[in-house]
Amino acid sequence: MEEDKVDPKVVEEVGAASYKALVAARDMIKPGVKLLDVANHVEKMLKEQGYGMAFPLNLSIGVQAAHYTPSIDDETVFGENDLIKVDFGAEKDGVLGDCALTVDLSHNNQKLVEASIEALQNATSVIKSGVEVGKIGAEIEKAITSRGFVPIRNLGGHTVKTHDLHSDIFVPNYDNGDDTILEEGMVVAIEPFATSGKGIVTESDICDIYSFDFETQVRMREARILQEEIKKNYSHEPFAARWLSNVVDSRFGLYAGVSELARAGALTRYPTLIETGKGLVSQAELEVIVEKDSCRILTK
Ligand code: CO
Repeated sequence: MEEDKVDPKVVEEVGAASYKALVAARDMIKPGVKLLDVANHVEKMLKEQGYGMAFPLNLSIGVQAAHYTPSIDDETVFGENDLIKVDFGAEKDGVLGDCALTVDLSHNNQKLVEASIEALQNATSVIKSGVEVGKIGAEIEKAITSRGFVPIRNLGGHTVKTHDLHSDIFVPNYDNGDDTILEEGMVVAIEPFATSGKGIVTESDICDIYSFDFETQVRMREARILQEEIKKNYSHEPFAARWLSNVVDSRFGLYAGVSELARAGALTRYPTLIETGKGLVSQAELEVIVEKDSCRILTK
């Protein structure tokens, strides 16, 4: 396996900054507050502290499981009954943080929220050098199903490397029998999702998160300007379309340009993911470093 040399101090620092930003987002979430205001606040906060973003702030509501981030002039506000997955991470020197929690504004979905939290605790309690990822999945599945919910099977945890948030190893949210092992020193994000639906997510039409793959020929003027800017500032980590609002002069130009770049293969799209059974979704996530006999939480 290719060696990924990172400064352990930076890994800890990025983990702590990620968690602090996550908590700041959580504390702003109230009925009537704009999602865009929360995103702008915490993204600016990280920048002012000298960090980049591992990915844009995700605020996915209800049956959305992941990958909703506000669009350029998004007027959406949190509702009294919203169940919100907040997923965020800092970046420094390519070192990436990744952590998430769920805010239950109605207080009617506490069991669902606890299911993913308990699954996360049980999963981290078995992580140590040599543990099979299928065993971690089994712990997650057991915690969630014992509470009457189902884990989302096509989302899961992942090893994290420099500039590579979803690296080579996938950590399932159920027992898929995978005997791939985690080794000492690996950085891993564990992220159980629990739902009252079918346990499968699918892509919706909404997409505001993209990442740059490679430069390509595009005809539209806006697409060319956007590509230059993306290449310069967002060549590694995923970015939000709204971060490019000052590059082209209209919302139409921005989205048309980004769409052309995606069609041409310059960008990967990360559409908002929806639970196929229309079930509510909860999520809990943290990042750990694997040690010989246990693991250490980084996003705290
Ligand atoms: Co993650």
